[in-house]
Amino acid sequence: MNSYGSFPGARPRRLRTTPAMRRMVAETRLHPADLILPAFVREGITEPVPIQAMPGVVQHTRDTLRKAAAEALEAGVSGIMLFGVPEDEKKDAAGTAGTDPDGILQVAIRDVRAEVGDELVIMSDLCLDEYTDHGHCGVLDAEGRVDNDATLERYAEMAQVQADAGVHVVGPSGMMDGQVGVVRDALDTIGKEDVSILAYTAKYSSAFYGPFREAVGSSLRGDRKTYQQDPANLRESMRELALDLEEGADMVMVKPAGPYLDVLAKVAESVDVPVAAYQISGEYAMVEAAAEKGWIDRDKAILETLTGIRRAGAQMILTYWATEVAQKLSASRG
Ligand code: PBG
Repeated sequence: MNSYGSFPGARPRRLRTTPAMRRMVAETRLHPADLILPAFVREGITEPVPIQAMPGVVQHTRDTLRKAAAEALEAGVSGIMLFGVPEDEKKDAAGTAGTDPDGILQVAIRDVRAEVGDELVIMSDLCLDEYTDHGHCGVLDAEGRVDNDATLERYAEMAQVQADAGVHVVGPSGMMDGQVGVVRDALDTIGKEDVSILAYTAKYSSAFYGPFREAVGSSLRGDRKTYQQDPANLRESMRELALDLEEGADMVMVKPAGPYLDVLAKVAESVDVPVAAYQISGEYAMVEAAAEKGWIDRDKAILETLTGIRRAGAQMILTYWATEVAQKLSASRG
């Protein structure tokens, strides 16, 4: 009997009957090694500072960052992405603290490297916004616009100090034209051919970065619309992708993740390099806030968002829940 009789001939529900059956036929699995933990380290503090808009996430001290890295490693997470938060008085127009060999990010890279060695992949945000007093990702020209080419020179220097500090992967996230090529050259020039580049290929100008501003203590003047992408565009990401690959990107990333799964799917099917997605601060905050109100089941919602990102094609996911989820995955038969 086929599908046209009084009863269905095909019964997809058969494969959903038991947890064991569903587990067997699952097309997407999450593994601790898929996860990368983004972490903030703040200069000059002796206790971690909670980030209000990201309950459960803190600005680490140098010491607690080391512990967080060790804990992530222990849980099976594969990498950590570091963001530095300098003391306020060290912020200036050029973002000088970002290229200071003793700047907070460089110090933190050395600390984490000393703690975990090569066991955990150590990544660093390569961008100026954490270090500039105006909060933009680059330096400004006389008219107050972000000056692309002058910024590239700063990025080249940043790449070199981060590499000298012992980072494995740099993540240029400023969306300046030519940034991947310039960073590659800068690294190669100082003999750091082995440091790889995770390119923020498709990075959208998103409202969901809101909580991140608090996380890095940045007060942005204006917006990032002249360098980050318009959420309306998909084909533009394909162009960014082609350029990043040509310039030497080893891995590419889509960011944010949840609202851009179509972009992620298209990027993933178009390339043969590893593809990452960044589940950003606002995506985290939304789930935590709704869960706190009792409106959704927190743990199920977290797993569903991550599974969706994985299913769309990300083989690596940056998520603030990385360690917690990795611990839970190891404990369950997922
Ligand atoms: C730029 C950078 C940002 C994030 C990561 N790298 C902020 C921005 O581009 O506005 C956002 C991460 C998040 O929101 O979780 N340094």
